[in-house]
Amino acid sequence: MDEIVVVDYGSQYTQLLARRVREIGVFSKVVGPDYDFTGKESGVILSGGPESVYEKRYDLPQLIGKVPVLGICYGMHLLAENFGGRVAKGAQGEYGLTKVKLFQSALFEGIPSESITWMSHGDIVEALPPNFLKTAISETGITAGFEYENGKIYAIQFHPEVVHTSYGREIIKNFVFGICKAKPEWTMNNFIDSEISRIKSTVKDQRIIGAISGGVDSTVAALLTHRAVGDNLIPIFVDHGLLRKMDMHVPQNLSTLGINVKYVNASELFFERLKGIFDPEEKRKIIGNTFIEVFEREARSSGATFLLQGTIYPDVIESAASSQRSAKIKSHHNVGGLPEKMNLKILEPLRTLFKDEVREVGRLMGLSDTFVSRHPFPGPGLGVRILGEITREKVEILREADDIFVNVLMKTGEYSRIWQAFSVLLPVRSVGVKGDARSYGYVLALRAVDSVDGMTASWHQIPFEILRIASSEITSKIPQIGRVVYDITDKPPSTIEWE
Ligand code: XMP
Repeated sequence: MDEIVVVDYGSQYTQLLARRVREIGVFSKVVGPDYDFTGKESGVILSGGPESVYEKRYDLPQLIGKVPVLGICYGMHLLAENFGGRVAKGAQGEYGLTKVKLFQSALFEGIPSESITWMSHGDIVEALPPNFLKTAISETGITAGFEYENGKIYAIQFHPEVVHTSYGREIIKNFVFGICKAKPEWTMNNFIDSEISRIKSTVKDQRIIGAISGGVDSTVAALLTHRAVGDNLIPIFVDHGLLRKMDMHVPQNLSTLGINVKYVNASELFFERLKGIFDPEEKRKIIGNTFIEVFEREARSSGATFLLQGTIYPDVIESAASSQRSAKIKSHHNVGGLPEKMNLKILEPLRTLFKDEVREVGRLMGLSDTFVSRHPFPGPGLGVRILGEITREKVEILREADDIFVNVLMKTGEYSRIWQAFSVLLPVRSVGVKGDARSYGYVLALRAVDSVDGMTASWHQIPFEILRIASSEITSKIPQIGRVVYDITDKPPSTIEWE
């Protein structure tokens, strides 16, 4: 299968580049600047980056000259400097929407000669390398593109991967299909077929265990693996008592798809250990360790030699800049420590997929739209959404309230516009009035955020009318809740979860 490799120099848009290439049907991956190329790549894209090339200059990939390369922003500066051009700090930078004039180039085939692009740069290419041609110029006269066709080198100052660049998708298509001659063979149906045969040949007749969390990733990983090895997959669903209502149906959902999940109710043990614990970190540790302990017990008796994990591509991107960013929050999710301890080999069928691709695979394998569109849910579950001590009673209150909130969002269509929405039960009570009597109920906080990867987030502006419906439904159906508030804090400074 043809592939386009994106070299990451630290741009916030690097992953987006790989996604854009995949969206047009060609496999693409992100690698670090010191990646060992195989020579079989169809083309290379050099990403943007925060540094100035005259301060930090990486070596260019060896295969430049042999396969086509597209340099973007910092990637363009790197090409300019390496081939004898000159890059310097511009008298003024260009940020945001910028008009550019495009000249004749295979990269701009079929695109109007005047076009709107998205720029974000302070440095400029002052002089082109010898024999290179200028292919684009911005309205302020700054070089916006160049090429050296014989050397298969193309560069642009603006970002074709962001939606604000009017013909960005066409430029990427021109590079990938027109210049690199890659074939569009990356489809999720092809992925499913080839991954199933890969799993079969890797695992043969050995057994695989996997924890099903209720989330999309672990469910899709299980479906794919089950298709490959049938009942040699032993999916285990540990109920820690801290699940949302929607998660509790997961074993049943999977059984309709032919997968028998082993349901382990360990909630008693979790509640016992969480008794009297108030500190958020201590709660997280107890939940994480107890989960591993319960799972390990099940794993030992299963005779498995493989551990299935729902790791997806953004978690594994092997590049300098991205790996620093993804210092992991998800320690619990990964059943940390277990593989070494039990000498298990790891199976990660989704490790090349972006989230939207995982969803597509799920849909193709029979999961409903509602299921594959669910919001992320943390491993420690409702445990990090009950501030202070966790009790069964509080979990039940929160579970009901959260279910009402989420259903209101779904019914009004707001759910799909939000990255993550949930409720938090606070350890305070407030005074109210119900009928003629004074009431004294819990305070419930509603939270909804917009985000791309959970690393930063901004609070979502839910229409007031929807908040009103949620609040009145929650307080009328759950007598223990006397007040509902809405969290209007971004991340940073707060985190998405409250604990
Ligand atoms: P925070 O609260 O750190 O959360 O802003 C960022 C994203 O990560 C999720 N999260 C977790 N996911 N195990 C997980 O699998 C965890 O321990 C965990 N803690 C937070 C959180 O829901 C949000 O999507």
